[in-house]
This record gives sequence, C-alpha cells and structure tokens, in this order.
Amino acid sequence: MRLTFCPFSLGVFVGSAYLMTLKLRREEHEKALLSALPSCQVVFVLGGPGAGKGTQCQLLSERLPGWAHLSAGDLLRAERKKGGELGDLINEKIANGQLVPSEVTCKLIENAMEDAYKEHGIDKFLIDGFPRSIGNADAWKTTMSRHQEKLVLCFECPEEVLVGRLLERGKTSGRNDDTVEVIRKRFQTYRDEEGPIVALYEKEGKVRKIASDRSVEDIYKDTSLLIQNC
Ligand code: C5P
Ligand code: MG
Repeated sequence: MRLTFCPFSLGVFVGSAYLMTLKLRREEHEKALLSALPSCQVVFVLGGPGAGKGTQCQLLSERLPGWAHLSAGDLLRAERKKGGELGDLINEKIANGQLVPSEVTCKLIENAMEDAYKEHGIDKFLIDGFPRSIGNADAWKTTMSRHQEKLVLCFECPEEVLVGRLLERGKTSGRNDDTVEVIRKRFQTYRDEEGPIVALYEKEGKVRKIASDRSVEDIYKDTSLLIQNC
C-alpha cells in the first residue's frame, strides 16, 4: 500500500486537535471557576453550651431557602472520627472542654463551605459555634476575610437552665463532654473566651442578642426575621 501525503487531511487533523485542546482548556477553566469559593454571606451563631444554636440553625437551614448550617463542633467531631494524630488532639480538647487550635477549626469550616458550594452552589452559611475566641476570629480573618460577616447572633440563657439541658441531653447524646465535670469546664472556657469576641463584634454593630430560655418556635420567630433582613 502506498501512502500519499494529503495537505488537506493534515490541515483537518491539526485543526481538530487545536479545537479539542481549546475545548478541554475551557472545561478546565469552568471547573476551576466552579470550585473556587466566591465571597459568601455568613452569620455567626454564638451562645453558651446548650443555648440552642444547633437547633435553631437546623430549623433556619430547613426553612429559609439558600442557607446552609455548619456546626464547628460537628465538623470537629467528624474529623475526630477519622482518628490519627489530629483526631487524638481534637478528642483531647473536646474531652477537656477546651478549644481546638483555631487554624484546625477554621480549615474544617473552609473545606465544608467549599464542598457545599461545589455540590449545591450554596453561598450563604449559618456558622454555629464559631468564632468562639479571639484566636478563632484571627484565624478566620487570615484566610476568610473575603466573606461578608452579616450578623453575629448571640443566644442568651441563664447558666442553670443550660446545665439542666446539657445533663438531659447527655442521657442520650453519647457525647463525652455532656458530663457534669466537662460541662463545668466548657462553661469556664465559654466565659473566658466568648465574652471578648462578642464585645469585639458589638463594636462593629453586628451583634444581635436573643433570649433563648423560650420555646423553640418563639426563638425561631426572632432569629428568622433577623436572618431574612440581614
Ligand atoms: O459547639 P459544641 O458544643 O458542639 O462544641 C463542642 C466542643 O468542640 C467544644 O467544647 C470545644 O472543645 C470544641 N470546639 C472548638 N472550637 C469551636 C467550637 C467547638 O474547639 N469554635
Ligand atoms: Mg451544637
């Protein structure tokens, strides 16, 4: 068989390869755009242990379209499950009612935001239990300052009510920090660390305080209005 050189076929081949490369590049570019987390709206949700942060955030994310709930505590517990050195460190801190190093918690939140954006296009987040200290807030500012901090909701409830709720929850939660001893330490951490961070956000006019020794639905009425108007 004799092969003949055909300039036309060569042109078609080179042209197709070029178009194919352009198409692949465009697809890669679109993929990269989709995976890059844009500037998101965030609402931080604070309050003592047992104040109802998780319950309210859950309801808000179910009933208000577009908002997702991320719990710093839940993310840490999920990471702890994976074990290893990081899992051990997280467990040690949780079991002692202390805070996990801020960079760890902040990174887990960032990863969870990226996943929610990539998978569901979500760009509005209720972040429960963060920032719980000046260190948490500093870590956030270092890597996440492009996001818009819309509000800081603070659930307020007398400590004796909270202790009662946690002990009740401890009967079924399976959490190793819902015990009298660790609860006491968690409150100490809360008093030491969370007061200064709330004061900081108060100066920025972002704090909204909500009495949370009321029924879930009454609290929800107030929180949902705040979120809808933020
Ligand atoms: O908010 P939650 O009660 O689920 O938090 C449980 C524990 O997770 C805290 O007592 C603390 O040890 C850890 N945590 C943390 N930093 C945060 C939030 C939670 O170290 N910002
Ligand atoms: Mg919680």
